[in-house]
Amino acid sequence: MNDTIRVKNIDLRGVTVADTKISFIDGEKGVLIYRGYRIEELAQNSSFMEIAYLLLQGVLPDRKQLEAFSRQGVEARQVPGFIYESFKRWPREAHPMDVLQAAMPILAMADPDLSSETREANVLKAIRLIARLPVVVAAWHRIRKGLEPLPADVHLSHAANFLWQLSGEKPDGETARDLDTCLVLHADHTFNASTFACREVISTQAHMYAGVAAGVGALSGNLHGGANAQVMKMLFELESERDIPGWVKRQLEHGQKIMGLGHAVYKTTDPRAKFLKDIASRLAKKLGQERWPRLSSQIEKAALEEFERRGQTTIKPNVDFYSAPVYHLMGIPTDLMTPIFAISRVAGWCAHVIEEKFAEAQAKPTLYRPKAEYIGHYCGLVGCTYEPIQGRG
Ligand SMILES: CC(C)(COP(=O)(O)OP(=O)(O)OC[C@H]1O[C@@H](n2cnc3c(N)ncnc32)[C@H](O)[C@@H]1OP(=O)(O)O)[C@@H](O)C(=O)NCCC(=O)NCCS
Repeated sequence: MNDTIRVKNIDLRGVTVADTKISFIDGEKGVLIYRGYRIEELAQNSSFMEIAYLLLQGVLPDRKQLEAFSRQGVEARQVPGFIYESFKRWPREAHPMDVLQAAMPILAMADPDLSSETREANVLKAIRLIARLPVVVAAWHRIRKGLEPLPADVHLSHAANFLWQLSGEKPDGETARDLDTCLVLHADHTFNASTFACREVISTQAHMYAGVAAGVGALSGNLHGGANAQVMKMLFELESERDIPGWVKRQLEHGQKIMGLGHAVYKTTDPRAKFLKDIASRLAKKLGQERWPRLSSQIEKAALEEFERRGQTTIKPNVDFYSAPVYHLMGIPTDLMTPIFAISRVAGWCAHVIEEKFAEAQAKPTLYRPKAEYIGHYCGLVGCTYEPIQGRG
C-alpha cells in the first residue's frame, strides 16, 4: 500500500503539519492572534514580558505573576563571565547572527537546569534565554568595538536595559516603550521557517538551546528575519535616488525582490506593519529625520503600483519594511536589526519548544521525519558497480 502524500517542492505552502495553541494567522483578513488575543490589543496594552508569560504559560499573568516573572528575568540577565571571555577571542567582523547562534551551546553549558526535562525546568530555561539574548547581543556589539560589556541595570525594563547595555546611555521612556512594542509585535508567528526549524530539532528530544540555535540560523536568512537589514541597506542605497518608480521597475525587470514586501501567509495586510509605520513616523518627526519614512512610503507606493500593473495584488509591506527605519532611528546598527528580531522571537520559539516537548497540542511527542524522492544516480537495488580507488584512473 502506498500511503505517501506527495507535497514535493511546493514550499509546504498550505500544508498543515501540526496543531498549536500558541498563535493563529488569518492571511486573507490580516489577523494575528497570540493565545486568543488580537495583536492590536496586545501591542497597545501589554509589555513584552507580559507577552512572554502569555506565550509560555497560555494565560495572561495577573499583577503578582508578572512581577515574579519579570523579577526572574531581571535576575537571569547575569551572564557567566566565561561567555564574554570566549567572545573576546572571536573575530570582530563576525556577523552578530552567527555570534548569537554560536552563543547558544555556550549558554546551554551555563544553564544549571540543562538536563532537567520537566515543564518547570524548561520554563526556567526559557526565562534565561529571553533574558540573556539581548545581553549577549549588546555584549558582542561592545566587544567588537573594543569596549567592555556593561552590567545590566536591574531598575530598567527588558527593552530599556537592552538599549542601555548596547549604547551605555539610558533611553528615554518613549524610545524604550517603542522598542518594547516592536518586541511584542515580533514575538510569535505560528509555523514560520525558524519556528518550524526549532520544533523539528526539538522533536528529536534535543534540549531547548539546540532548538533555539536552529531557530536563530533559520531567522538569519534574507527571506526571513534577515529582511529587515536588507530593507535598511535598500534605504541607504536609495537615499539619493530621484527616480524611485524607475528604480522599482528596473529592479523587478531584473528579477530582483523589493525587500520588506510580500509575505508567505498575509495576502492583504500584515497587521504588525501599521504599528511599525506609525512608530517610524513619530520617531522620525521627533528626531527631525523624516526622510526615512518618506522614502519608505515612496518605495511602497511605487512598488505596489508596479505589482498591480503586473497583476500581483497580494504583495504588501510586511513586518520588516517599517521595522528597519524604526531601529535605525533608535540608533541601532543595521547588522543588529535581525538579532533584535531574535531577541523577541525567542519567546515564541521557547513556547513552541515546550508545546512540542510536552505534546501540549497533540496526543504524544513524535519525531518529524518526512521523506524525499530519490532522483539521483541509480542502478537498481543491487547498487552500482563499485570501482576501488586504485582502478579509477
Ligand atoms: C516573503 C516571500 C518569500 C513570500 O513569498 P510567497 O508568498 O511565498 O511568494 P513567492 O516568493 O512564491 O512569490 C510569488 C511571486 O511574487 C513575487 N514576489 C513576492 N515578493 C516579492 C518582492 N518582495 N519583490 C518582488 N517580487 C516579489 C515572486 O517573485 C513571485 O513571482 P513569480 O510568480 O513571477 O515567480 C516573498 O514575498 C519575498 O521574498 N519577500 C521579500 C523578502 C522579505 O521581505 N521577507 C520577509 C518576510 S516577513
